Amino acid sequence: MTATPRFAIAIDGPAASGKSTLARKLAERLGLVMVNSGAMYRAVTWKALRENIDPSDTAAVIDLLNRIDIHCGEEGMTSTCTIDGVDPGDELRSETINSNVSAISAIPEVRDKLVALQRGYLDHTSIVMEGRDIGSVVFPDTPYKIYVDASEEVRAARRIADGEVDSVAKRDAADSERATAPLKIADGAVVLDTSHHSIESGVDAAIEILKQQGLPTLP
Ligand code: CDP
Repeated sequence: MTATPRFAIAIDGPAASGKSTLARKLAERLGLVMVNSGAMYRAVTWKALRENIDPSDTAAVIDLLNRIDIHCGEEGMTSTCTIDGVDPGDELRSETINSNVSAISAIPEVRDKLVALQRGYLDHTSIVMEGRDIGSVVFPDTPYKIYVDASEEVRAARRIADGEVDSVAKRDAADSERATAPLKIADGAVVLDTSHHSIESGVDAAIEILKQQGLPTLP
């Protein structure tokens, strides 16, 4: 008996583009584990801030990385991330984390460590993974890549509706301009603008794209 090869669907895009919701719904429809890579960068940021480490102090952040145990797994069909056995939970979405995560995620050593953990999921399961560099760096060889976007107005409105006052423009600029693994449209990715889509019609559109990219066994 031959096992079905495991695969990754890469969903990238700027903050509040709708990529998390899309990735979650897609994973539900396709019966795959949904992995939120941003939560891993947020968790390292959470730990650094708890230890009063300045995110711009690269040496201190690297020292922290070497001391902590980051565990990425899943509960049901959703990824989890603990640091030294602690799940930071809702604290990951705090405004303090929003304003410091881009500095932490720009550090190449942080990225190397988290990318290895992200790739590790494929050792045991097929996934929908969302982030900034999933199609460009984490799984550059996957044929299944979508870059999710939405107009700046729609993204700002979504953030407010979520109860967050995050300056998405500032974070996107930092994420797009960094030297290592910047946010960009990966080679082979199809852009999906969700500005005028409902959640369900966005998922339908994503499934059409994935079909064209050759994804097998679709409902
Ligand atoms: O949910 P939202 O789009 O606001 O952000 P997120 O996906 O939780 O990501 C938070 C931050 O982590 C981003 O602003 C990036 O700085 C960083 N990140 C990254 O560098 N690479 C990824 N693959 C995912 C997130």
